[in-house]
Amino acid sequence: MLSGMEAGMFDRPETVLLAGASGGLARAIGGELVKRYPQVSLLTLSRGEAEPFPGHRGDQRHLSVQLGDAASIGEVEKFLSDSASLPDWVINCCGLLHDRERGPEKSLDQCADDWLLQSMRVNLLTHLHLAQALGKLLQRRQPLLWASLSAKVGSIGDNHLGGWYSYRISKAALNMLIRNLAIEWGRRLESCCVVAIHPGTTDTDLSQPFQENIPVDKLYSPQLSAERIVDVLRGLKSEDSGQLLFWDGTPLPW
Ligand SMILES: NC(=O)c1ccc[n+]([C@@H]2O[C@H](COP(=O)([O-])OP(=O)(O)OC[C@H]3O[C@@H](n4cnc5c(N)ncnc54)[C@H](OP(=O)(O)O)[C@@H]3O)[C@@H](O)[C@H]2O)c1
Repeated sequence: MLSGMEAGMFDRPETVLLAGASGGLARAIGGELVKRYPQVSLLTLSRGEAEPFPGHRGDQRHLSVQLGDAASIGEVEKFLSDSASLPDWVINCCGLLHDRERGPEKSLDQCADDWLLQSMRVNLLTHLHLAQALGKLLQRRQPLLWASLSAKVGSIGDNHLGGWYSYRISKAALNMLIRNLAIEWGRRLESCCVVAIHPGTTDTDLSQPFQENIPVDKLYSPQLSAERIVDVLRGLKSEDSGQLLFWDGTPLPW
């Protein structure tokens, strides 16, 4: 168990960047942040338009951007350089499990290149491109807490069921990106923590088609998952960097 509910070194975010800001978990996390820190400055990234968070008393700047495209690196870099301050928290919520036509594969026969590549684009590249944009601007003294929403099924060590090839493969790749980032930024920055976090199965569009077999007490509301994630994040310290965390802050095997 990590530092748990205790306040860590990143417990008072001033500027939070929320990516994939329109998603079920992102909306709930934004709402929770605003509840706890009403004056926080929000930088939001989404393919769509900005939605304000009720009760927010700080400023919100928004960029409509397709983070899966490499062109987003320059666009986000410009957006961040034009901001009053760089984020001290980054929460990247981008992820994809299914779309209207396609979804997780049960067996090898169902794997198709285009779906694997699309899964890599959304589950990996949206996080890589954001890191590349921010990485160009980071100064040694800039404190940084980075959390990518990943998934327990992306853990290689924890995979006892198989299936869900594209989602598992792309989340495992994201996990390796997070481990690498933690090492590189850990060397570069004085105060930095980079983690991947599993939110738990949460009632959003992403999990909707797969909720049937989930016991009611294992399907969490976005609000509850958001509270837990913010609790974990505010308890983190630099020593916790480079881990894949369960929603209660416990490290999961990679
Ligand atoms: N819900 C769960 O049970 C669960 C469990 C484990 C892990 N997770 C992870 O938690 C994160 C948030 O999931 P959620 O449940 O909130 O799902 P969601 O409501 O479907 O939101 C997913 C977000 O990903 C972004 N996204 C989707 N397709 C994209 C694309 N083609 N290009 C760029 N961005 C795209 C969207 O951002 P914009 O539309 O704002 O651009 C969207 O807000 C994901 O990484 C997911 O893998 C969720």
